[in-house]
Amino acid sequence: MRIAVTGANSSVGLRLLEQAANAGIAVNAGVRSERALRSLPTHDLISPRIISYQEPDSLDALLDECGSVVHLAGILIPGKHTSYREANVDATAAVADAARHGKLKSLVFVSVLGASPASANPYFRSKGEAELVAAGDAPAGVIIRTPILLGPGSAGSAALLAAAERGKASLLGGGKYVLQPLDVDDLCAAILAACRNPEAGVHELAGPERIAYRELVGRAAELLGKSIRIRGIPILAAKLGAALTSRLRGGITPAVIDVITTDEAVHENADKALGITLTPLKTTLARLMEKSPHE
Ligand SMILES: NC(=O)c1ccc[n+]([C@@H]2O[C@H](COP(=O)([O-])OP(=O)(O)OC[C@H]3O[C@@H](n4cnc5c(N)ncnc54)[C@H](OP(=O)(O)O)[C@@H]3O)[C@@H](O)[C@H]2O)c1
Repeated sequence: MRIAVTGANSSVGLRLLEQAANAGIAVNAGVRSERALRSLPTHDLISPRIISYQEPDSLDALLDECGSVVHLAGILIPGKHTSYREANVDATAAVADAARHGKLKSLVFVSVLGASPASANPYFRSKGEAELVAAGDAPAGVIIRTPILLGPGSAGSAALLAAAERGKASLLGGGKYVLQPLDVDDLCAAILAACRNPEAGVHELAGPERIAYRELVGRAAELLGKSIRIRGIPILAAKLGAALTSRLRGGITPAVIDVITTDEAVHENADKALGITLTPLKTTLARLMEKSPHE
């Protein structure tokens, strides 16, 4: 089996390449720059390709001889020169077009819990619009909506580790929002299962435990043998600050703060439908802390 992966240098992409190679699956790994290309693992089964979402030929080449394409490229924090429309919607449309031309069997798209084209939040809206594009006519659009992802290199893990290592944390709204973190390796296993046996439609895949963010930070600190002091940052004040700084310098916007502080929940967890066994949260956290440079 050969699959194509966009955003192959993303935190999910790097784990996916590793899992695919270990499972004997060949991967055409698409990235946007030479720099990103150098971050990819070297392996006989991994064929790196430079792509541009504005150049259909480069996407056709990425998808060459592949049965499925996994579309991972996407952003949460818009840059001064990168919008949700470009990164989340237009890039997905370009990949879906290429998948149709190439007569692929499936397009697996990693979305987010809460995605909806009708959302008032521009991030959730862009992911919802991208889902519609990915669902298209053909090939089979397999959409996997995920919560915060925990694993090496993910933004969520970096923030968690930093707070736990410092022994003190300033959390939005005191970190009372509830998450259902998913192990990145579980997501990658689900993606590969979907490439082997695509079931078109939306699958909501979350971790096995719901937990308030402040408790998650507390558990992470405990694993490092540290006590933790949590201070609350009023959400409204944070949003006012973000409104100013994002206009001047880019970065976190009020909409991103809304995404971060939205409670996560699934209607029906797709772990069984996707044929995977969820990793217990305590195992995910223990693995993360093992890799932490705290000692
Ligand atoms: N991490 C999470 O907790 C989480 C939660 C829910 C959903 N997701 C989704 O899962 C996918 C992978 O997430 P991740 O955290 O692994 O991603 P990541 O590490 O932040 O990497 C983002 C990827 O998107 C690419 N990208 C950025 N701007 C782009 C643009 N304008 N056009 C095309 N590509 C662009 C990046 O390429 P360059 O390096 O070239 O910029 C990179 O490959 C994303 O679609 C994300 O929305 C993640």
